[in-house]
Amino acid sequence: MTAPQLLALIVAAMLLQLGAGVGWMLWRGRVGSVIGPAGPSVALPERGARTEAAWQGLRAFRVTKREYEDAARSQCSFHLQPVDGAALPAFRPGQFLTFTLDVAAPGPDGAMATRSVTRCYSLSDAPDPTHYRVTIKRVPAPPDHPEYLAGLASNQFHDRVQVGDVLQVKAPGGNFFIDPDPNVSVVLIAGGIGITPMMSMLRGCAAVQPQRPVHLYYGVRHGREQAFKLELEALAAAHPAFRLNVVYSCPDPTDLVGRELRHAGRIDVALLQRTLPPGRHPFYVCGPPGLMQSLVPALADWGVPVADIHFEAFGPATVRLPGAAAADGTAQVTDVDIRFTRSGRTLVWDGQDATLLDFAERHGVAVESGCRSGGCGSCETRVLAGSVAYASPPDHAPAAGHCLLCVGRPASPLVLEA
Ligand code: FES
Repeated sequence: MTAPQLLALIVAAMLLQLGAGVGWMLWRGRVGSVIGPAGPSVALPERGARTEAAWQGLRAFRVTKREYEDAARSQCSFHLQPVDGAALPAFRPGQFLTFTLDVAAPGPDGAMATRSVTRCYSLSDAPDPTHYRVTIKRVPAPPDHPEYLAGLASNQFHDRVQVGDVLQVKAPGGNFFIDPDPNVSVVLIAGGIGITPMMSMLRGCAAVQPQRPVHLYYGVRHGREQAFKLELEALAAAHPAFRLNVVYSCPDPTDLVGRELRHAGRIDVALLQRTLPPGRHPFYVCGPPGLMQSLVPALADWGVPVADIHFEAFGPATVRLPGAAAADGTAQVTDVDIRFTRSGRTLVWDGQDATLLDFAERHGVAVESGCRSGGCGSCETRVLAGSVAYASPPDHAPAAGHCLLCVGRPASPLVLEA
């Protein structure tokens, strides 16, 4: 072999080795993003940092996968990739996506018509620049209130949205998200489908803060309704700092057999006192109204500082913490008339409710809602007279002459088009 031939052989061998190394790294990254227990490593955004590269308005996403997460097949995950192929912004684990869907719904005259509805669903995976995942529970529409839009969007997802379909989605939003400080031990408390933001927080921590102590309390009726069963068990097995407590209110005979950290009953302060290590723990609570209304004030009564209690309610739930109403600076008017022109009701605002949305729902006035935190605009309502106050400017700016019921309270008597 000549010297040039030998040199060419050496260069070819080096290039081959380099190519194999790059290929291995790419493959490893791909496997991590698809089947790894914790997803790819994307740093959690700093508290207060703006989510970069978030988009304005609606963006088209294609459904790339759907799968049921519980044995009862009532909770389904939808994986979404942007049609434009550009990288996705790193949301804050705990945030939600807002969808605009066309659904067939009964109008005021009972006739079916297509109408656009806006709904928010929590992200249920760690931040990943390639895809999002939301998990949606089927909600039966109340048969005695066909004019209500409850359940229409979730049923549309379960019954009609298939792999390949394109959906219109707003950028991640919401103010319920985990503190990114890796030194803070957190307690996540989920009831039912409230597990979805907790999955995002948990997977976000597992991806980039695997040593961070995370205590998850997940309340379900029985094992058939337990979502992410295998995924949670795999995370617990891979991360000793993660403590998984499952609490069954109506356990099946096999739910508790031979299992550690499985409990019968409901999540309450007594259970937390028995099972949590001492020390400061910020609490993140998400679930149905019953859980929120019992547990959130109980945490404050237990002595957890209000600043360490973070919560998000799915569905109507008035939750008040001691001192929260006085501290938020909202004008505290009471005994003023609120007139809803569409439903023909005039009601007295007595100050019992945290927001106009809670007030309307408590009195059976049908209004739309999505995020319940001022982020999606679905509760935007025309103000025909009077003024509405907010504790702080909402993320979604309502149009002139409109208000957001979910974060607003009356600053005077009101006439609302609802
Ligand atoms: S429900 Fe989303 S802004 Fe009011």
